[in-house]
Amino acid sequence: MSFFIGLDVGTSGAKALLINVKGEVITSSTNEYPMFTPKPNWTEQNPTDWWEASKKSINEVASKVNKDEIRAIGLTGQMHGLVILDSSGNVVRPCIMWNDQRTIKECEEITRKVGFEKLIKITGNQVLTGFTAPKILWIRNNEPENYNKIAKILLPKDYIRFRLTGELATDVSDASGTSLLNVRERQWSDEILSTLEIPKEWVPQLYESTEVTGKIKHDISEELNLPNNLPVAAGGGDQAAGGIGTGTVEEGITSLVLGTSGVVFAHTDKPRIEKEGKVHSFCHAVPDAWHIMGVTLSAAGSLQWYRNTFHKDIDYSELTIEAEKIITGSEGLFFLPYLSGERTPHPDPNAKGTFIGATVRHNSAHFTRSVLEGVAYSLRDCFEINKSLGVETSQVRISGGGARSKLWIQILSDLLNSEIVTPSSTEGAPYGAAILAAAATGDFNSVNEACDSMLKINEIATPNKENINIYEDYYSIYKNLYSTLKSTFANISSTVERYSS
Ligand code: XUL
Repeated sequence: MSFFIGLDVGTSGAKALLINVKGEVITSSTNEYPMFTPKPNWTEQNPTDWWEASKKSINEVASKVNKDEIRAIGLTGQMHGLVILDSSGNVVRPCIMWNDQRTIKECEEITRKVGFEKLIKITGNQVLTGFTAPKILWIRNNEPENYNKIAKILLPKDYIRFRLTGELATDVSDASGTSLLNVRERQWSDEILSTLEIPKEWVPQLYESTEVTGKIKHDISEELNLPNNLPVAAGGGDQAAGGIGTGTVEEGITSLVLGTSGVVFAHTDKPRIEKEGKVHSFCHAVPDAWHIMGVTLSAAGSLQWYRNTFHKDIDYSELTIEAEKIITGSEGLFFLPYLSGERTPHPDPNAKGTFIGATVRHNSAHFTRSVLEGVAYSLRDCFEINKSLGVETSQVRISGGGARSKLWIQILSDLLNSEIVTPSSTEGAPYGAAILAAAATGDFNSVNEACDSMLKINEIATPNKENINIYEDYYSIYKNLYSTLKSTFANISSTVERYSS
């Protein structure tokens, strides 16, 4: 039997997952590492911590089977992080991570130098503080001695590739989050690199996600209990690999991850770029395909906040049983889930969580249901943008902690007017990386064939005809609430700031 390893260099730890050629999960191992916050809004990790944890996790899963049956490793990981290496291949400073917020000025600098429209046209996206290019400029502006040592820049999973194989390489899906890639052409953008005065020699070689980028070095194979010359597939950023892990590999299928934040991820056969950059447009881990992605910052996180704040002693299933008794639309009570500001479709750090429409008729179960519905409306906003870009959804594949609630899934199915299914594997990104490894070895002709053969789905919800129309009416009200409240949200923020010490 052939086995494949997917390695996810995540935010909290390195997870290795071993699957067989039928797509069955044999075992997994996660080893954690710390995240440092040397200043408010800064987040950093040590690449050598990732390496030690990755080695342990790979070794632990590899020792569960006959090593000669392991055919390849695929890599995935947290996107956008900046690792800088000197000319001897040493790490110059800790990685500045995807959730670091120090680069507001550098984002402005990039947008000014390149121009907003051109930036979106070339890279498919606005430049965000978490992305990689502004971090390079931040080092130039603030740490010249480190900047002068840079010989190569890498993304997190690609540092592990470098240690495993000695190769300096990345894949197009992860490179899409750097603001340096021409997303249509799937090549580094000479124009952006030269405008930002970033030397082209610094960026690693680009591959499609299913390509082999090198073989594990002999001494590392010995140390990790791996066969000699094991191929390492390019793999993908965690979102793209997660898309592979749910089989989101053809147009019409959209993955919905109902985690702390909610991610709406749609496969597209051609680059579809929203002119204001309201959704991310990235290369997919499927060769010659792209994806668009919208993010609701507080999805299952909204329900968690609501329960912890108002119903600490009640568990989630009890809460939602009560909410099930309330009629569709919560009799006009709305919740706006902007508890940490919002990303899609309103990129606004001032947006606030809001209940609106309460009357004396509304009880606590109405409030619970309105939270579930409010998150669903906000996810529908992401689907609406996709539709405006010509991407229709015939099937939603749902995963994440919120997908444990049957009521929430039914609300989403009614509101989106779509069948919702759950994929057999809920392992997400590392599972996708293992599928990419299987596609890279030639065991399958394509990543689509690998997904078809390895993944199964369970049908769970179809829309209820009566509710579709009710939700259309309520959604048309929800849609206007943000613009009505936008300036009030900004006023609240500035007033709170004035009176905070
Ligand atoms: C993607 C993103 C996160 C990070 C960390 O744009 O910001 O998915 O990759 O998981």
